[in-house]
Amino acid sequence: MNVKQKQIYDKTSKVFILTDENVAPFWLPEIEYWLNCKNAVEIVIKAGEQHKNLQTVQRIWRTLMKQHADRNALLINLGGGVVTDLGGFAASTYKRGIKFINIPTTLLAMVDAAIGGKTGIDFGGGKNQIGTFAEAEEVIIDPVFLETLPQREICSGLAEMLKYGFIADSNLLNVNLENYQQYITHCGEIKHEIVMQDLAEKGLRKVLNFGHTLGHAIESHCLTTDYPLLHGEAVALGMLGALWLSVRQCGLDEKVLQDFESQLPMLLSEVEISLSESDIEPILGYLVHDKKNKDEKPQFVLLEAVGKPVWDVEIEPNLVKSSLQYLIKVSNR
Ligand code: GLY
Repeated sequence: MNVKQKQIYDKTSKVFILTDENVAPFWLPEIEYWLNCKNAVEIVIKAGEQHKNLQTVQRIWRTLMKQHADRNALLINLGGGVVTDLGGFAASTYKRGIKFINIPTTLLAMVDAAIGGKTGIDFGGGKNQIGTFAEAEEVIIDPVFLETLPQREICSGLAEMLKYGFIADSNLLNVNLENYQQYITHCGEIKHEIVMQDLAEKGLRKVLNFGHTLGHAIESHCLTTDYPLLHGEAVALGMLGALWLSVRQCGLDEKVLQDFESQLPMLLSEVEISLSESDIEPILGYLVHDKKNKDEKPQFVLLEAVGKPVWDVEIEPNLVKSSLQYLIKVSNR
């Protein structure tokens, strides 16, 4: 335990650890031992995006209440993006906010979800529709957790790492299955730098949503089918669409799109993509509910060049549809 962690614990009345049923058997005892909190109250929830909802939050709130958690309680969120988003939301709203620490166990959560203070749950059929901006006291990142992570989850995280390549540092466009561990900290630093300037996403932070306008709509739609996608997989498809739009609307060099087309098989190597023309209308329906919309019009983050993102770009509905047709064609190759 380092000095900062000790300071956090010294001011804590009771420790709670939230995790899911996949992570618990591997890491819960380790973490309790490592953080010296064997008396912590464990809250183990079902794994998966479909449980990132109000019911699960209510369960967490109820446990906190039943165990007499006061304002000085601490919630440790041990897991992937679902656990850190959901736990952060439960903590930031319980008694108007208690402290929380994130310990991300997936690559995607290490480079994105667990840092930057966005918390939330899915609601009304849309991703992250209810949430808060609330920063964790600390985010503990340790690649040891990646040892037990399925390859599909690694590929999903790689997509978010490539996102930083597109919006901020072209060196990250070389990230692959062999070298990704050496870039984890750098991705976190890029995100931290952006979030420090714009926590509440009034402007600059929007660049972190590159690939997410189409990505969230695809992810939300696929959650209603027999072929749900992981967040990073949907973001990979969303980035493909955003690059295609960037070539047409912002003068992005077509070579950037072609290079990403050749990386896509790596990102989607562990999943069967079953999207077809008939999925386009429902996906367009989800776009209307995107949080980033203005006057119900989807707002895109596009690229003028690698490292030069532009945000709040409105795109003609027909062109959005064409970008979906294109990405569906490429993903079925
Ligand atoms: N995942 C995008 C953000 O944290 O702003």
